[in-house]
Amino acid sequence: MTIQWFPGHMTRARRQIEEKLKLIDVVIELLDARIPLSSRNPMIDEILQNKPRLVLLNKNDLADPEVTAQWVAYFAEQGLQALPVDAANGSQMKEIMARCRELMAAKFEAQLRKGIKPRAVRALIVGIPNVGKSTLINRLAGRKIAATGDKPGVTKAQQWIKVGKEMELLDTPGILWPKFEDQQVGMRLAVTGAIKEELLHTDDIALFAVRYLAQHYREALKERYAIEKLPDDMTDTNAVIEVMEAIGRKRGALMSGGRVDLDKAALVILRELRAGKMGRVSLERPDISLVD
Ligand code: G4P
Repeated sequence: MTIQWFPGHMTRARRQIEEKLKLIDVVIELLDARIPLSSRNPMIDEILQNKPRLVLLNKNDLADPEVTAQWVAYFAEQGLQALPVDAANGSQMKEIMARCRELMAAKFEAQLRKGIKPRAVRALIVGIPNVGKSTLINRLAGRKIAATGDKPGVTKAQQWIKVGKEMELLDTPGILWPKFEDQQVGMRLAVTGAIKEELLHTDDIALFAVRYLAQHYREALKERYAIEKLPDDMTDTNAVIEVMEAIGRKRGALMSGGRVDLDKAALVILRELRAGKMGRVSLERPDISLVD
């Protein structure tokens, strides 16, 4: 799903989440483990205020485990618990429930001392489009929940979904906008498929991806496309295009006359990267993060 975000949508989306916050105890902030900052809403702290929060680094199956561990430490430094998960495969669901409960432990204990029996923890999932919110809701619910009202501005009656005995989840997630006005962020979102290719040129997106891979996952790139030697200086755009052409030739992405069809080559590269064919790749690292 792609949403064209305009200021009016953003205001409405924010207001909707603020309304939902009144109903819940814990926010589950869903990020893409490959691009935790680029897949994050730029105003998230302001919107969520001081609600207890669990960060989930989703699509962990596609992200580089070493880099993900660095991200977990990065969030811990900011006082946020971050848990790598794979919503599509559904592992870690028990751990998510346990962590949410843990976030409420002090409050529930205080209530217990006053003789109030703790109720189920009420949670809301928030995140940008395509980060895996519906997938996670379905996993936690253990069944398919109809995706209705899944647009900013569309309201409907809230339903609670039972997740075990100790947790309840709002059936519609909070949809947030990314910081796409930053070009680097836009590129990373496009590489992962979070925003539609039509918004940017496919060959530019693939160029960005190939350059990043050549810098950080050199061996994986060489191996995947049987490239013997990559140019040393990948800051040179012509060098990146040469690599894309070599990949295009390997994959038969040719135009009549035998020239490489760069658009086709770009699509092949992006499809294979998104499907994890180049191994587990993170496109953003806390040590060289380019996001403010
Ligand atoms: P949203 O509600 O936040 O918009 O996201 P949604 O759940 O629709 O998920 C977006 C895409 O991300 C889906 O793929 C979904 O399968 C995939 N996804 C969600 N969680 C994970 C995960 O942990 N790992 C991986 N590898 N993928 C995940 P799709 O191609 O749009 O649809 P489909 O192929 O599942 O039909």
